[in-house]
Amino acid sequence: MKNFTYLASTKVLFGKNRVAEIGKEILPYGKKVLLAYGGGSIKKNGLYAKLIEVLGASGIEVVELSGIQPNPRIESVREGIRLCRENDVQFILGVGGGSVIDCIKAISMGVHYQGDAWDFFIRKAKIEKVLPIGSVLTLAATGSEMNGNTVISNESTQEKRASGHDSLRPQFSILDPTYTFTVNKWQTAAGVVDVMSHIFEQYFTLDKGTFVQDAMAEGILKTCIHYGSILLNEPDNYEARANLMWASSLALNGLTGTGKLAGDWSTHNIEHEVSAIYDLTHGAGLAILFPVWMNYVLDEKTAPKLAQYSRNVWGVSNPDDIEAAKEGIEKTRSFFSSLNMPATLADVDIDGSKVDAMAEGACKYGAIGMFKKLDIDAVKEILIKSL
Ligand code: NZQ
Ligand code: ZN
Repeated sequence: MKNFTYLASTKVLFGKNRVAEIGKEILPYGKKVLLAYGGGSIKKNGLYAKLIEVLGASGIEVVELSGIQPNPRIESVREGIRLCRENDVQFILGVGGGSVIDCIKAISMGVHYQGDAWDFFIRKAKIEKVLPIGSVLTLAATGSEMNGNTVISNESTQEKRASGHDSLRPQFSILDPTYTFTVNKWQTAAGVVDVMSHIFEQYFTLDKGTFVQDAMAEGILKTCIHYGSILLNEPDNYEARANLMWASSLALNGLTGTGKLAGDWSTHNIEHEVSAIYDLTHGAGLAILFPVWMNYVLDEKTAPKLAQYSRNVWGVSNPDDIEAAKEGIEKTRSFFSSLNMPATLADVDIDGSKVDAMAEGACKYGAIGMFKKLDIDAVKEILIKSL
């Protein structure tokens, strides 16, 4: 195991009605808050009304930014920065899924920066001073509630790019599983795939001797498989929502990637290119790409880890590593299909016309991947196999 520093500084308030405690979490930072949310799901399920009541009772003044879209756009970030500056906002509260939380992180780092916030995403600016943020999570998927990452889309350049810094980790995140009861089947399934994919990206490395990280990773994968299936028919099953919610945070807060080589992340890179151009749901893109990537990278060197996954997560008993790996990949593909996730790009009406652009975009800063390095031609091949 390699040396590591582990930081997971976000205070997590998990469970029913924890939103009642939000005032005392925010007040140390100030009384003027930007309340940011998406297209209205929090108004339909009563969370918005509850928040306004609780914040008002704590004497907290609210400035609102609404309409943050899935695959959040740089325009929402710019609007949020303007609102923070004009109203002298001291704290940003994001209420929603990963898109809302990613958007407030980008706002947070842009408020004290003189240039355009997109600069952070094209490696033109460094994150220096940020506004503190907190979140109320309403969709289990990205782990944004407990990490310092943000992913923003720019429609004018057809790019979707990531940035991040430890200072962007939320000060606190409220994880009340009951707020996720209203997440529809498509988004729930996409969330399950995303959580599993975050584990895959960090699990599939060539490290040896990381038994504890691998065991935690395999446990989180089994949690997703077990409760993901239950949630298809029982959207308001508290136990299932609670387990998936905590799994989402643990899958991308550094826990399973510590003490190892850097993760692979090439499938995420490729998916971001797909959703940048086609505005596809992130988890749906991963459901298509991950089994293809697994098959593509399978060789003598990678087979032992893929076989370990197949045996420990799917109970595959084949003693041959390559054959065991193939069985596990097939089980992954059919699990995603059982969640009604797409299996090919054609299933989501994407043809091959932009394969070159996507492959070039994925490799904009050079070859990607660690488990197996992928250049532009390799990415093209994966995209073509996904059609
Ligand atoms: O906008 P509203 O009306 O709230 O509706 C949302 C949205 O339409 C809806 N939703 C959220 N909570 C709900 C709900 N509907 C009913 N009831 C609720 N309780 O779900 C839709 C999707 O929301 P979104 O926030 O886009 O989903 P998700 O959490 O999957 O976030 C996806 C974004 O995060 C990025 C993705 O690329 C994508 O842009 N990622 C962020 C990461 C990070 N920060 O670490 C890592 C990930 O790999 C990922 O790249
Ligand atoms: Zn993801």
